[in-house]
Amino acid sequence: METAIKDTKSKDSQQVKKGHPSGDQRFKQLDITMKRNQYRQDSLIEVLHKAQETFGYLETNVLTYVARSLKLPLSRVYGVATFYHLFSVKSNVDTAHTCVVCMGTACYVKGGGEVVKALEKELEITVGGTTPDNQISLMAARCMGACGIAPAVVFDGRVAGKQTPETVMEKIKDWQE
Ligand code: FES
Repeated sequence: METAIKDTKSKDSQQVKKGHPSGDQRFKQLDITMKRNQYRQDSLIEVLHKAQETFGYLETNVLTYVARSLKLPLSRVYGVATFYHLFSVKSNVDTAHTCVVCMGTACYVKGGGEVVKALEKELEITVGGTTPDNQISLMAARCMGACGIAPAVVFDGRVAGKQTPETVMEKIKDWQE
């Protein structure tokens, strides 16, 4: 099952009216953090932490969303994100494909850890790495707001639910063809 992340079940999420035009639930998680910090510009690092947890890495469209929401120049947000080693910044053209496995509690309990192990073995890289041919980056995220379909994996920005080592391997084989 593969679908865009549009689920808005959490109570906190429902209290936040804003959102990304794509309807991607992960941006709502960011909105919650920014709202809690009253959209203060000095909360930038905390917001980037949340973005990294939620998306697994920081992509240009996420940095742009944060910059607009906090009314900061994109160059400033990008500068902070690239300055700190704990943030993983990826431009959309770094790799052909991105695979982000949710390792939040619900997903981990339902087998997210097994999915990661299978991917690491197949791709011969560890989480945070990219295959030598620059084709696939493997990352992990914490809860991305799709616990109802745990374990969740995001393939090139689209979430797939109820994943197993077998289903992720099928996707990887598709990419490798
Ligand atoms: S724990 Fe994975 S989506 Fe919530």
